[in-house]
Amino acid sequence: MYKTKNDLPEQVRTKLIELLNARLADAVDLQTQMKQAHWNVKGPNFIGLHKLFDEINEEVEDYVDDIAERSVELGGVAIGTARSVAKKSQLAEYPLQIGNGHDHVEAVATALATFGKSARLAIDASDELRDKDTADLFTEISRGVDKWLWFVEAHLQADR
Ligand SMILES: [Fe+2]
Repeated sequence: MYKTKNDLPEQVRTKLIELLNARLADAVDLQTQMKQAHWNVKGPNFIGLHKLFDEINEEVEDYVDDIAERSVELGGVAIGTARSVAKKSQLAEYPLQIGNGHDHVEAVATALATFGKSARLAIDASDELRDKDTADLFTEISRGVDKWLWFVEAHLQADR
């Protein structure tokens, strides 16, 4: 922990930094999974999905940066290298052998939904620690992820 004049108590900041680094690991993992999908998707919806997955990647990159910087603002160290996030991420590994659009849509929707759930839980956890700003950050992220999940799942929802 670094010294800071931030008025949140140190034991609270320590817990927040742990929470932020846990979600940072998920977010970095999610970002690489969106690129994996962007590069490898094939089939009749190729161009739409190829562009959509990259758009999601770009917004997830912003989530990554905001989560990492929040933990540093609170006096912590952001832990976001590939090796450290691979150990900590709660996301399942992205299927590496799939090719067609439908399978990528399924896999991307699963990754987004997993991350969305943990972001939502992080809203309440930050709120319980009385940090409205971190709760607000996770609220923004959770709302964004819900939007992307809609964009992706709409490909599967033509028939009810
Ligand atoms: Fe690209």
